[in-house]
Amino acid sequence: AWQVQSMADRFSDSFPIGAAVEPWQLNGKQGKILKHHYNSIVAENAMKPISLQPEEGVWDWEGADRIADFARKHDMELRFHTLVWHNQVPDWFFLDEDGSPMVDETDEAKREANKKLLLERLDTHIETVVDRYKDVVTAWDVVNEAIDDGGGLRETAWYQITGTDYIKTAFESAREHAGDDAMLYLNDYNTEVPSKRDDLYDLVTDLLEDDVPVDGIGHQAHIQIDWPSIEDTRESFELFTELGLDNQVTELDVSLYGWPPDNAYATYDEIPDSLYDEQADRYAEIFSLYEELDADISSVTFWGIADNHTWLDDRAEQYSGTGVDAPFVFDENYRVKPAFWRMMDER
Ligand code: XIL
Repeated sequence: AWQVQSMADRFSDSFPIGAAVEPWQLNGKQGKILKHHYNSIVAENAMKPISLQPEEGVWDWEGADRIADFARKHDMELRFHTLVWHNQVPDWFFLDEDGSPMVDETDEAKREANKKLLLERLDTHIETVVDRYKDVVTAWDVVNEAIDDGGGLRETAWYQITGTDYIKTAFESAREHAGDDAMLYLNDYNTEVPSKRDDLYDLVTDLLEDDVPVDGIGHQAHIQIDWPSIEDTRESFELFTELGLDNQVTELDVSLYGWPPDNAYATYDEIPDSLYDEQADRYAEIFSLYEELDADISSVTFWGIADNHTWLDDRAEQYSGTGVDAPFVFDENYRVKPAFWRMMDER
């Protein structure tokens, strides 16, 4: 995969090409592919709150530093993922001074005190992390997945304890510490789905009216071969562009399956070539759109490097008992797939 034209070169007029990585993927063949094909990286897990601050005031920088150093050394962009999320966040954030869950508190005065404490913890987390990586980070996922698929805001512990103030505090703290030039994103999945896109639109317009410093929308783009439609995908970019916001594609993968993936193939050998061809058509379609809208899209990042390592395998296993997915343009042995050639096509 490192003897062919580089994806980063191919799209250099349009946007950087990124990959999500674990620290152990920086060496060997995967490191070689990274350096050749990508000019941006993001930590798949190493920069989430549970990785960085597993206990209050106890920091683990090892994996995160390796990724940041790789980006510095090879002059790559680094997307930071993620300052706030409801998953992969340690419980201590949400325990009060007595060690009881803040969400259970009924006394009004204590609820107010808890909220203040939680927002202070958030601010401390953000200040510490931002100071460490702001020299190399080009885009920050400030809040991840704030919207509920069923409508409105997701009722996480963050929301139950602070309302929307956690979002405000997170962006204001990121702006204060990362500076005026830092690019700050609300990141979410299924941003193409009209109802969810509208909820995200409502949230971001409220935030902007309140002078909360949001610069753009991160579209995760965990997509499938036949879903979502290219029209919905286009409308979603255009909608946020009209608001004056930037767009980034932050976690692209093209699953071979529908949702849920309860019919997954058990091994790569069983996956028919025709399915890989359909996936290649999808890659052609999606990259044509990204190129056409390149003024509105400042970065495109895959949620992995090659099919040998993808979080979608866990999903396939969960719903099919056993199974593999193969969502990328490099196969499980790092060879180029039909999807690679179709996304690289001159248009
Ligand atoms: C996933 C990782 O890929 C997995 O390794 C981990 O077990 C769970 O999180 N949306 C996100 C990412 O914003 O952080 C998730 O990453 C995938 C979905």
